[in-house]
Amino acid sequence: MRISVIGTGYLGATHAACLAEMGHEVIGLDVDPLKIESLAVGELPFYEPDLEELIARHVASGRLRFTTSYEEVGPWADVHFIAVGTPQRGGEGAADTSFVEAAISSLARTITRDALIVGKSTVPVGTARRLQDILTREQDPTLEIGLAWNPEFLREGFAVKDTLAPDRIVLGVDADHHAETLTAVYAATVEQDVPVLVTDFETAELIKQAANAFLATKVSFINALSELTEAAGGDIRVLAEGLGLDPRIGRSFLRAGLGFGGGCLPKDVRALQARASELGQERSMRFLSDVEDVNLRRRERAVFLATSMLGELRSKRIAALGAAFKPNSDDVRDSPALDVAVRLFNAGADVAVYDPKANDNAARRFPRLHYVESLDEAVAEADLILVLTEWEEFARLTPRALGSVTTARKIVDARNVLSVREWIAEGWDFAALGRKY
Ligand code: UGA
Repeated sequence: MRISVIGTGYLGATHAACLAEMGHEVIGLDVDPLKIESLAVGELPFYEPDLEELIARHVASGRLRFTTSYEEVGPWADVHFIAVGTPQRGGEGAADTSFVEAAISSLARTITRDALIVGKSTVPVGTARRLQDILTREQDPTLEIGLAWNPEFLREGFAVKDTLAPDRIVLGVDADHHAETLTAVYAATVEQDVPVLVTDFETAELIKQAANAFLATKVSFINALSELTEAAGGDIRVLAEGLGLDPRIGRSFLRAGLGFGGGCLPKDVRALQARASELGQERSMRFLSDVEDVNLRRRERAVFLATSMLGELRSKRIAALGAAFKPNSDDVRDSPALDVAVRLFNAGADVAVYDPKANDNAARRFPRLHYVESLDEAVAEADLILVLTEWEEFARLTPRALGSVTTARKIVDARNVLSVREWIAEGWDFAALGRKY
């Protein structure tokens, strides 16, 4: 099939490359010419394992092209996926759907044949219905242009794998033949026995935001219990294991630590509350404001532990290990790690940040922190070391190896990846979130 993907950020670039991998002819479209220039030569403007190779391979194979022109894709594609951003509206929790609306209008103006438009962006419930009205109003009335909603569940760091082998495909449609078209688009994955859920627009939109809100709730649940183990004693990691071994609860998303961040979970938790309020159901999602509170309190706790260990932050050097919101990513949007580093800097500490991939993005956001190129450089002059993102490089640290490159003997493990006993046995002053000392 001929497929266009509108928007070539995280989601769109991955989706376009994976559709080419599934055997389709694909054009990725973005209004940003710089992004298109680099993608067109197979270069990725962000870090995502395996994606750059996949894009380069399909640009070379001729199955994947990039453009800035709606006039090029409108008459060309059978199916148009919309994968543009829905950021938080300035100062409010609600999602800004104006980029999705603009994409629909541009497609309506340029499509010259029967086609299916498929929304992939995360949107508040009710958006697809509204877009359908825009489409009906603006399209050529002699054409049959359908709309479907097909949310995406990929994780950063596993984007290619999650797209090629998803755990489910959700299709929000208002006509059966649109579900059939999409099943044909995903034939290569459907053949792997991936469950396909066909439903209406509203359910599809809600499944996406509800999934992220549920994951955020799971993280905050275990982090709220951290507050109890910090006060009463106990090991939050073992507690999480004890909960997770119950298959009804499950082990994933119970890693206690600095909490959730990134471009999706925090935004979706806020957007779902905002939409519930708009629908007159503010109370239904009110618990999510506690989920957010718990999440932010973890950052305060990390700052508190650092301050208690050092006594005074002024003129103290802190090595912040990690700036990305999670490992295997260079994304610092709403990053708990970077937020803690900034809070410590604002409280007077001299903070040296080292992240294997995210230093440049972090420096663009907070240029006043001190960014260094290696772990050794970060810890060399440090009084205290904080593990803020659980990169493999940090999870592998041992007290002996680290002790040979720094005179610091104080460490805060804000991601619960280090073995307490080992560090204490080597004479380190050690603290971790969720454990009492
Ligand atoms: C999340 C969802 O997992 C995807 O399914 C979804 O498609 C995506 O958002 C999206 O809406 O685009 P992502 O933001 O890449 O994916 O990151 P996750 O792996 O879900 O992690 C989210 C945050 O939770 C991270 O900050 C991570 O450190 C934190 N987390 C996760 C924990 O603190 N503890 C855990 O046990 C798990």
